[in-house]
Amino acid sequence: MKNSWESWSEQRVADFQQVFLKWYEEEHRNLPWRADQNPYRIWISEIMLQQTRVDTVIGYFYRFMERFPTIQALAQAEDEVLLKTWEGLGYYSRARNLKIAAQQIVEKFDGKMPGNLADIQSLKGIGPYTSGAIASIAFGLPEPAIDGNVMRVTSRLFEIDADIAKSSSRKIFDEAMRKIISHEFPGEFNQAMMDLGSAICTPTSPSCNICPIQSFCVSYAEGTQLHFPVKSKKMKAKPMYYLAFAAKDEDGAYYLEQRPDTGLLANMWTFPLVEVSKERYTELSQHSEHGLNKEFSLPNEIAETVWQTKPTGEITHIFSHLKWHILVYEGIKQAREDFTVAESLEKYNENNVRWVTGTDFQTLVFPKPQIKMWDLLKKHSDKITDYQS
Ligand code: ADE
Repeated sequence: MKNSWESWSEQRVADFQQVFLKWYEEEHRNLPWRADQNPYRIWISEIMLQQTRVDTVIGYFYRFMERFPTIQALAQAEDEVLLKTWEGLGYYSRARNLKIAAQQIVEKFDGKMPGNLADIQSLKGIGPYTSGAIASIAFGLPEPAIDGNVMRVTSRLFEIDADIAKSSSRKIFDEAMRKIISHEFPGEFNQAMMDLGSAICTPTSPSCNICPIQSFCVSYAEGTQLHFPVKSKKMKAKPMYYLAFAAKDEDGAYYLEQRPDTGLLANMWTFPLVEVSKERYTELSQHSEHGLNKEFSLPNEIAETVWQTKPTGEITHIFSHLKWHILVYEGIKQAREDFTVAESLEKYNENNVRWVTGTDFQTLVFPKPQIKMWDLLKKHSDKITDYQS
C-alpha cells in the first residue's frame, strides 16, 4: 500500500507548511535557547531535552551557560564541576560526552560547531536526532529531528503503523518528514512539531479540537488517533534491591562512599549500599531488624560505633534498564572514649569514603537516588521535630 504522504501534492505540502508555521509563530513557547541561533546553546539544550522535561531543563540550562559560557570553557571543564552542574538531570554520560565533543570541536573545527550534517554527526554523543535539531535550528538545513514527540505527531498525521520502538522504523519517519519539512524555515518547522507533540498531540488525550493541522490529519479523519503511534512493549526494567546505611555522626556529618570510576553512576557519592535478594528485602521492609550494619562491610570503627535504627523508608529509582529499590536505614554514631570524631574524620576523609559535611555538598556529585534519600531523611527528621514539639 502506498504511504499516505506520497499522495500529497506540492500544493498540499505548501498549504500544510503555511498553516503550521503560522501557528508556531503565534503560539511558540519562549524558551531561553530559542532567543537566537547560537549553535552551542542549541546543542546543549537539545542534549538536556533528550531525557528531561522542558520545565526542568530551563534552570539547568541557565546554570550550565553561566558556568560554561563557551565551547572552549566546556572543553576545559573540570569533571567534578561539570557533573555537579549536571547533578539531578541523570544519564550522566551525556555530560561526559559533551566535554569530549567540545574538545573535538576545539581540535578539529577551530572551536566552532561545524555547519554540516556529517561533521556534526562525527561529534561524541550526537546521534541522528540531535544532529538534525542542530543542523535545522542553528544552520537552517532541511534536516528532520525525529524524537518520540515527532514520531507521535507524524504517525497520526499519516497513520504510519511502523513500530516506533524499533530503530528500523526510523527511515519511514525520516521519509515522511522529508516530504513535509519546510526548506525555508526548517528549524521553526521541527520545533513546531516538538511543541505540537508536547502541548496538543499528547499521548493519551490529544486536543484535536484546537490542533492547527487537524484538517490534514488522517487519523483525526478516521478517529484512530489513539491507535497511533504503534509501540511494542518495552522490556520491563529489572528490579534490584538494596539496603542503604545513612550513618550520621555527632556533628551531623553523613558517611558516604564514592562509586567506582566505571559503570553506572561512576565516581558519584552515595550512602553505603548492599544488594540483597527480593525475599530478604521484603522481609526487612516488613520487620525492622537490628545489627545490620555488619552487612554493609563498613570499616570496623564505623560498624562498631554506629547504631543502626529502624528503616526510615524506601525510595525507588528507574534507570533505563534497572529499577532500584532502596530501603534506607539511619545510623547514629555513638561517642566512644577511645575513638574521637576528629580521628574518624582524618582516617576516612581519604580516597573514596568520607564523612560528608556542609562544604562537601557544593563539590561532591550525588546521583538522583542519593538526592531522593536525602529528601526522605529530611522529611523523616521534620516529622520527628513535629512530633516532639
Ligand atoms: N524538545 C526537544 N527539543 C526541543 C526544543 N528545541 N524546543 C522544545 N522542546 C524540545
